[in-house]
Amino acid sequence: MFYLTTAIDYTNGSPHIGHAYEKILADMIARYRRLRGDEVYFLTGVDQHGQKVQQTAEKEGISPEEFVARNTQKFSDLWAKLGVKYDGWAETIDPRHKACVRSILSELKDQGQLYKKSHAGHYSVRQEQFLQERDRDDAGNFGPEWGEVVEIEEENWYFKLSDHTDWLKNFLEASTDIILPTFRKAELLNALERNVGTDLCISRPKARLRWGIEFPFDEDYVTYVWFDALINYISFAGYQAAKNSGLPDFSRLWPEHSRPVHIIGKDILIPAHGIYWPCMLHAMGFTDSQMPHLLVHGWWNIRGEKMAKSTGNVVDPAILADQFGVEAVRYYLVRDIVNGKDSDFDLARLIMLYNTELANALGNLCNRTLDMSQRFTGGILQPGGPLTADDSALQVSLTESTATYQTAMDEFDISKGLEALNQHVVHCNQYIDRMKPWELNKDPEKKDRLATVLYHLAESIAHAAILLSPVLPDAAAKLANQLKLPGLTDFKLADLHWGLLPDGHIIDKPTPVFPRIVSEALA
Ligand code: MSP
Repeated sequence: MFYLTTAIDYTNGSPHIGHAYEKILADMIARYRRLRGDEVYFLTGVDQHGQKVQQTAEKEGISPEEFVARNTQKFSDLWAKLGVKYDGWAETIDPRHKACVRSILSELKDQGQLYKKSHAGHYSVRQEQFLQERDRDDAGNFGPEWGEVVEIEEENWYFKLSDHTDWLKNFLEASTDIILPTFRKAELLNALERNVGTDLCISRPKARLRWGIEFPFDEDYVTYVWFDALINYISFAGYQAAKNSGLPDFSRLWPEHSRPVHIIGKDILIPAHGIYWPCMLHAMGFTDSQMPHLLVHGWWNIRGEKMAKSTGNVVDPAILADQFGVEAVRYYLVRDIVNGKDSDFDLARLIMLYNTELANALGNLCNRTLDMSQRFTGGILQPGGPLTADDSALQVSLTESTATYQTAMDEFDISKGLEALNQHVVHCNQYIDRMKPWELNKDPEKKDRLATVLYHLAESIAHAAILLSPVLPDAAAKLANQLKLPGLTDFKLADLHWGLLPDGHIIDKPTPVFPRIVSEALA
């Protein structure tokens, strides 16, 4: 089982292209894994508790329940619009999740992993945590990233994180592929070094924060939002769930010797996913062979700046999709970013990449091939032969592109996978220009040669539709329909072979799948 999750999005705001990128990336990986023949479970959802939600709801004069219901809807509507298809949906106000968090708290307390103590110090309202001396900047101040900082003293529950950090350090040092891309591991190990001896405050007094999961053994406290949120990866996978809960069977999703893949942004690796979460799992008895992979992606920025409501530079994916189509948005967000690195959102590049690689290259290849097949052979395909060096080179190009695509996609590198696919599309367009089927059609002696050329093109498009299907499932289905290629959704990579389209197969007329975006759309 390939168990894949994304971060769950805060519901104190609306989704932007950063959230959309992560969910689209996960959707493509899930679809690719299915194409590879894996059984997949893809979980995503929303993070609904915490001080920010309580405060924003208060400001708007509505209850937190009403506030999160409204914002949750925005996220799930967007995923439906963008074709993000998940198997499980996590909402942290779900009673099944709350029961799981509470039961874990009780177990950890029984095992002596939790204790209560009083602490006086600086507290960041924005980050919902106590700050330490090391959090001050060079000038000795708590920087703007912490928002409002107040001095408070309060008694809270702590998790003995420090009991697990030696284990984590050894585990991380010995592992080669737990953190992907691997360059993030050094940052994490440094952070861990600085964290030694610190425990994790996992409660908030209800007097200050009502909107959270109540402690099972101390009703004056609710659970710290990160401790609550991280548990979604197991609660919604059926951990400790009742048989009739409607949740999956945990032992199938996350068995012994099996690592799920958590897709997260670089901002939430340290400390939440890289330190707290493995230590929490370790405390719960998860083994080293069950520790999750963390696939850490970079950020989408605007002209080098972080997207923020306050600066008004937030890009709404729903508006983009209305303007340029879902295809263009899905394609751009994974195509114009290097795995693990940041990228700058640029509308001109979205249009350019869509027009160049989809409308011009792949779109034209399909239109030209299907149109010529209709006009010259009545849409009937015949592999024909004998093969020329050009035909063999085209077949080699397809084999090589497919192999490069597969390696890249196995490494979660969608952009590289698409690049490999595009290379073959370019090869096909050059093959058309060299073979000139319109010239061959003028010579009755060259009917067989014409059929062979058109067959090579149609067969290439059939393969391209299959390889493109995880990324642009609707467009791929349209291409497959025009080729009358059945069963695209059940197709497996292992079934790919030259000759998907049989001798005598009849294909349809072309209907443009990638209409060009005209630049007036920018206005
Ligand atoms: N609720 C926490 C995650 C809890 S997971 C147990 C959270 N939420 S978030 O809404 O702030 O971010 C959700 C995901 O979106 C994170 O992985 C984050 O890195 C990602 N992104 C938020 N802004 C982003 C960009 N501008 N670009 C790319 N992804 C970014 O953190």
